[in-house]
Amino acid sequence: MSLPENFLWGGAVAAHQLEGAWQEGGKGVSIADVMTAGAHKVPRRITDGVLDTEYYPNHDGIDFYHHFREDIALFAEMGFRCFRTSIAWTRIYPTGEEDSPNEAGLQFYDELFDELHDKGIEPVVTLSHFEMPYHLAKKYGGFRSRKLIDSFVKFSETVMRRYKDKVKYWMTFNEINNQTAVETPVFGFTCSGVLYQEDENKIQTMWQAVHHELVASAKVVKLGHEINPDFQIGCMLAVVPVYPYSCNPADVMRSVEVMHERFAFGDVFVRGYYPEYLKKMWEQKGYQIRIEPGDEEILKQGTVDYIGFSYYMSAAVKAGVQLPDETDSGFAGSVRNPYVKASEWGWQIDPVGLRYALNILYERYQKPLFIVENGFGAEDVPDEDGFIQDDYRIQYLKAHIQEMKKAVELDGVNVMGYTAWGCIDVISFGTGEMKKRYGFIYVDKDNEGNGSLKRSRKRSFNWYRQVIESNGEKL
Ligand code: BG6
Repeated sequence: MSLPENFLWGGAVAAHQLEGAWQEGGKGVSIADVMTAGAHKVPRRITDGVLDTEYYPNHDGIDFYHHFREDIALFAEMGFRCFRTSIAWTRIYPTGEEDSPNEAGLQFYDELFDELHDKGIEPVVTLSHFEMPYHLAKKYGGFRSRKLIDSFVKFSETVMRRYKDKVKYWMTFNEINNQTAVETPVFGFTCSGVLYQEDENKIQTMWQAVHHELVASAKVVKLGHEINPDFQIGCMLAVVPVYPYSCNPADVMRSVEVMHERFAFGDVFVRGYYPEYLKKMWEQKGYQIRIEPGDEEILKQGTVDYIGFSYYMSAAVKAGVQLPDETDSGFAGSVRNPYVKASEWGWQIDPVGLRYALNILYERYQKPLFIVENGFGAEDVPDEDGFIQDDYRIQYLKAHIQEMKKAVELDGVNVMGYTAWGCIDVISFGTGEMKKRYGFIYVDKDNEGNGSLKRSRKRSFNWYRQVIESNGEKL
């Protein structure tokens, strides 16, 4: 048995990490536009508006806005069947509060989707990937305000109606489960536009914002199905399976508790109601989460068609050990797993963890799964001919695809597709660096923003072309 013939092979990116042109075509300032560059262990800073004195890597991205035809031609050369990107909310509603959408922004995505279809590539669109209008974050505190539900639904309705015959696969919010790490400001800000006050109950605020997002997502799923019953609308979760450090029952139970926090999101997206363990946790901690009459009905009506998720790493936890990220395991609160290696950025490399994740998700939900992000962030150094011999990336991807195939072929998991993250080098979300690269296509640009932006094929480019051509047989 092999992968289905219509398996969605492709690549994934997000608007704010590659488009650039932050002030062109009437685009407004997004939350990504006020984030400076950081580095491994040096957090990105969030500034109060755009300051002349700072460098903001997302402003120019890799200038996909002006290079998309050339880039799509390269994706087509690799045989992509789909391409996942997001729609920058601020190209459509620059502040999020306009009565009518910005036609130039809508036109840009028309051209992008038309170009993809011309090349036989199916667009897969995330509605919100860390790029809400900065104005909404500043004025309302992002999703801490219920007001944002309507803003997001309005934006989503506009684009789902406009592209109803061009886009079939949608996802509502990217990785909003990241924000449970409330001590890392960038997560609350990028997931929800929330900046916490030191004296507030951050976790309570976080769940309130999450509730608003879950309601907004459910409304959009329901509306999307009315706009076009053929739409496939998914959620998008950051999946990090959290193992017990040992078979000590206390470690096992600790991992169950940590996984509750991660599963809570998928449970609502897929089942349409809050799981008991989460309600118990709110009750025990005394959190007051305002759930308005009618919200629960909305959650039920807007369950997703599939589960999109990213997988980069696994983590391990030990009972009684509550570390911040000092362990450099890539996941706050976890301990180093002695059985797996890690990337230069501390992310634990665990291909078997992908098969494990596919199994636990499928056993829990029985919904199609779409791996919409997986990849290896590394510093690529061109050889004397300017060529990138990225065998380490091939090795990572190959091992993960092998495990994905086992999940399909041996475990019977329904996997719709696989889109490699950052199929062309983009600005790193976590660090804002250019040097943390994931692409099959190298982009000549450095951390300071210098470079010709010239695109060139890495060794992994041909490798991935073969993978797609053979439907995953030639790895
Ligand atoms: C996911 C995000 O968390 O991981 C992407 O959806 C991000 O936006 C990707 O780029 C890889 O993370 P990073 O920090 O290496 O860019």
